[in-house]
Amino acid sequence: MIDESLITDHYSHGRLLDDIEAGLTTLGKSPRTAEVDDLAPVDEVHIGGRLATEAFLDQLDIGPGDHVLDVGCGLGGASRFAVERYGCRVTGVDLSEEYVEVGTVLNSWVGLAGRVRLEAADASDTPYPDAEFDKAYMLHVGMNIPDKIALATELHRVLTPGGVLGVYDVMRVGEGELDFPVPWASTPDASAVARPEDYRRALAQSGLRVTAERNRAAFAERFFTDLQAAAAGAAGPPPLGIHLLMGETAATKVANMIENIAKGRIAPVELVAVKTGH
Ligand SMILES: C[S@@+](CC[C@H](N)C(=O)[O-])C[C@H]1O[C@@H](n2cnc3c(N)ncnc32)[C@H](O)[C@@H]1O
Repeated sequence: MIDESLITDHYSHGRLLDDIEAGLTTLGKSPRTAEVDDLAPVDEVHIGGRLATEAFLDQLDIGPGDHVLDVGCGLGGASRFAVERYGCRVTGVDLSEEYVEVGTVLNSWVGLAGRVRLEAADASDTPYPDAEFDKAYMLHVGMNIPDKIALATELHRVLTPGGVLGVYDVMRVGEGELDFPVPWASTPDASAVARPEDYRRALAQSGLRVTAERNRAAFAERFFTDLQAAAAGAAGPPPLGIHLLMGETAATKVANMIENIAKGRIAPVELVAVKTGH
């Protein structure tokens, strides 16, 4: 178990909404005119951003009647994207009250308050009834949750029979000490990066059968190359970007993550699993 305050402190900011509004203004938008796509550079906090979300969520067969759980939703960027793309309803849970509050304001800015609900809760102990959700997904969250079995058991509980779970997490794929800080942890004691086989074991043990696995290291390396090329030709960071969430050490966190991936120690990996009768 990682002390909860270690996680919430790591992700806490204090004036996030003001910074997002200022970035939007620089881009010639406002809370009244903002659309879901305008917020994507700052509210999709995982490797590959929107590009990765789209490629990942498209595998989950989400439909208009579905109630979907966004596990560790952060600011809810993927939740809003899912509602617009698939016509579903999304509930998001996150440990960070600040992210939930800011994300809820962003929902209202883009007119989705009625279809996306964000709540503060622990992903391994949610307040929802059994079989509430048709689909659930998790984008870069398991790296903060050591007990993958408790997490998988809870997600199995809240899924309907036949329900689908998607995981897109940074996982251990090779040997060697990780360089810290990284975007999800300032120090090793806040990091719970695990191997794909650990996830598979936890999922199987809870009654979730893995149907697909995809290592996204090559995609990540291309994404970072493009990002670095864009940064080299720019005068400074863009008005909206995930650097707004990562504080003063943003550049070091991202550089370490790129190095850890390039050295083959970690990679973003997708897993898709189905709830079997159990
Ligand atoms: C790297 S961010 C990703 C946020 C979001 N999924 C996205 O892709 O934009 C990780 C998020 O996981 C949340 N988190 C970490 N441990 C959690 C837990 N046990 N329960 C719920 N949320 C958690 C953090 O608060 C943070 O918002």
